Amino acid sequence: MKILMVCLGNICRSPMAEGIMRDKINEYGLNAQVDSCGTADYHVGDSPDHRAQKTLKQHKSDISMLRGRQFQISDFDSFDLIFTMDDNNYGNIMALARNEEDEKKVEMIMNKAYPNENIPVPDPYYGGINGFEEVYQMLTLACDKIAIGIKN
Ligand code: 4NP
Repeated sequence: MKILMVCLGNICRSPMAEGIMRDKINEYGLNAQVDSCGTADYHVGDSPDHRAQKTLKQHKSDISMLRGRQFQISDFDSFDLIFTMDDNNYGNIMALARNEEDEKKVEMIMNKAYPNENIPVPDPYYGGINGFEEVYQMLTLACDKIAIGIKN
């Protein structure tokens, strides 16, 4: 199972989701891989935002080695599940889908915890450190559901 986490910049939410999901894969002993990317190219090659790194570190997780990259069409072939953080990311990725098979892989990540509610993971970039902790808590809930779904 190959999972792709998608946000706008790939320096805040989706690298956090990648780190959290990687820990869940290890915790549950799953045969799965996770990666992340952004819909935009603003932060290609950049490390995760220092606040994202700090928040994960407080929860004993290290995402310092991750680097930003932009979504590419071939990701539809490389990944089984594509989770977007908000409705903008969702719309942007769905607009790139080539067929129904691509479309079926794409889902708003919080729908794993709260089905059909389309709750966005708020962009913490312009706020303070507390926004990152909120994102961490939301993503932990969703990644746990994803892990349970893969295990069963
Ligand atoms: P992310 O947050 O999509 O969670 O990585 C953002 C990071 C950077 C920008 C916007 C959102 N930016 O405009 O540079």
